[in-house]
Amino acid sequence: MAQESSTSVTPGEAAPRSATVDTSVAHVARVYDFWLGGKDNFAADREAGQRAIDAYPDIVYSVRANRAFLARTVRYLVREAGIRQFLDIGTGIPTANNTHEVAQAEAAESSVVYVDNDPVVLAHARALLTSTGAGATAYVDADLRDAGTILAEAAQVLDFSRPVAVMLMAILQHIDNAEDPYGIVGRLVAAVPSGSYLALSHPASDIEAEAMAEMGKRLNQLMAEQVTFRGQAEVKRFFDGLDLVEPGMVRVQQWRPDTEAERTSPAALWGGVARKP
Ligand SMILES: C[S@@+](CC[C@H](N)C(=O)[O-])C[C@H]1O[C@@H](n2cnc3c(N)ncnc32)[C@H](O)[C@@H]1O
Repeated sequence: MAQESSTSVTPGEAAPRSATVDTSVAHVARVYDFWLGGKDNFAADREAGQRAIDAYPDIVYSVRANRAFLARTVRYLVREAGIRQFLDIGTGIPTANNTHEVAQAEAAESSVVYVDNDPVVLAHARALLTSTGAGATAYVDADLRDAGTILAEAAQVLDFSRPVAVMLMAILQHIDNAEDPYGIVGRLVAAVPSGSYLALSHPASDIEAEAMAEMGKRLNQLMAEQVTFRGQAEVKRFFDGLDLVEPGMVRVQQWRPDTEAERTSPAALWGGVARKP
């Protein structure tokens, strides 16, 4: 979690919206916002983000391809899988095509529970919750490592006797192997009934391997949340026991792209969607 900080904010920078926002150290939600061209970032975030761009310039395309993947998976889940309940962990600072907007544009009754542990994301939660659809939208301030709290809070909005899509987009890289990322995902999947889905994306260690490794090293020097990029087999293991939908776990830009531009975008992330049998 971000620490208390009294770091001053220079004019033109986004004002900290919570007493617990630490502007002195880069945080992933804000670095990601910087890569996406957002305004909710500070000098430390921009420095880390730029050092990452210097190591892997395509990161700016990668994050956009990840957002496009997120939107396509939500549309697929609503249209083709009939899902109306989403548990989106690692929400990020709101940007275009947030999960509830995509889902509720397809089916107004869709309910979305967002979860993140970043105070800036929390500060945006109110804006995020001005949902126009008939479905519920809620926000839980919690850590992915605390699956029990997430499930208990989400159960106030979602009906866990009906299918739920668990979304873990570009977040599992912040759980290192010693913290049992497979166990965490297993606990979440165990809590949802048959017919539920797991949708996830994960930065790759085996695509653009050299540049990704250098970017990871730089981020780990400058960012509060450490990163562990994973290879194809390691990411695929998150789907063990589930039925991957076509085309399986692939590079995110190759997962049911809508346009040629989406299909050919550079992106060093693995992604997939799978159904719980
Ligand atoms: C790279 S962003 C991805 C945002 C969004 N899911 C997407 O794919 O566009 C990762 C998000 O996960 C959040 N996050 C990182 N570690 C977390 C943890 N342990 N628990 C909850 N949220 C976490 C960060 O605060 C950030 O908002």
